[in-house]
Amino acid sequence: MTGTGPPLDDRPSGTGPAEPEEPIWRRDFPYTTAGEDEVTRREFVRYMVLGSGAFALGTVGVAGLTSLREPARGEPRPVVERGRLRPGEAYLFRYPSEDDPAILLLRPDGELRAFNQKCTHLGCVVYLDADADELVCPCHEGGFSATTGDVLYGPPERPLPRIAVEVRDGLVWAVGVEDG
Ligand code: FES
Repeated sequence: MTGTGPPLDDRPSGTGPAEPEEPIWRRDFPYTTAGEDEVTRREFVRYMVLGSGAFALGTVGVAGLTSLREPARGEPRPVVERGRLRPGEAYLFRYPSEDDPAILLLRPDGELRAFNQKCTHLGCVVYLDADADELVCPCHEGGFSATTGDVLYGPPERPLPRIAVEVRDGLVWAVGVEDG
C-alpha cells in the first residue's frame, strides 16, 4: 500500500537511521566501555594484592606475638592419678592456665614427660603418634621428640616448652614450665 500523506520522517532517503547525538557527559568523560572495564579490573587486582599483603602481614604479626609471649611459669597442681597412665600413652591436661593445652606422657621406660601442646611453629596442637613415638603437628608436618621435646623435622625451630612433673602420694603433679 502506498501512502500519499506527508513523509513520516524528513531524513534524506538512503542515508539509514540518524546517528544518535553524543551525550554531553561523554564529551567531558571520554572513556569507552572497554577502557572503563580495564580500569576496574586493574583496581580489583590492586585491591586483591593489597588485601593479600595485609592478611600475610597480620598472620606474621600474630605468629610473632605468639612466639614472643613469655610462657607462664605456673603453680604446682595435681594433674592425674599415676595409676591411670599406661606406658606409651598420652594424657591431655591444661597447664599453667586453662588456656594452655598440655600433654603428659608415660614413656615406655616408666619416665614421665610433659610438654606444652602448642607447636612452636604457629601454635597448632601436637599429638602423640604412638607408632612413631613422636609428637606430631598436623598443620605443617612438624615433629618433636616425645622424650625431650626437641624438633625432629618440619618448620618448627624451637623445642616444645617442657613442664616439670613429679609424683606425690600417687598423683602426678605439674610443678612449673621449664624453658623449651
Ligand atoms: S604449626 Fe606446627 S608445624 Fe606449623
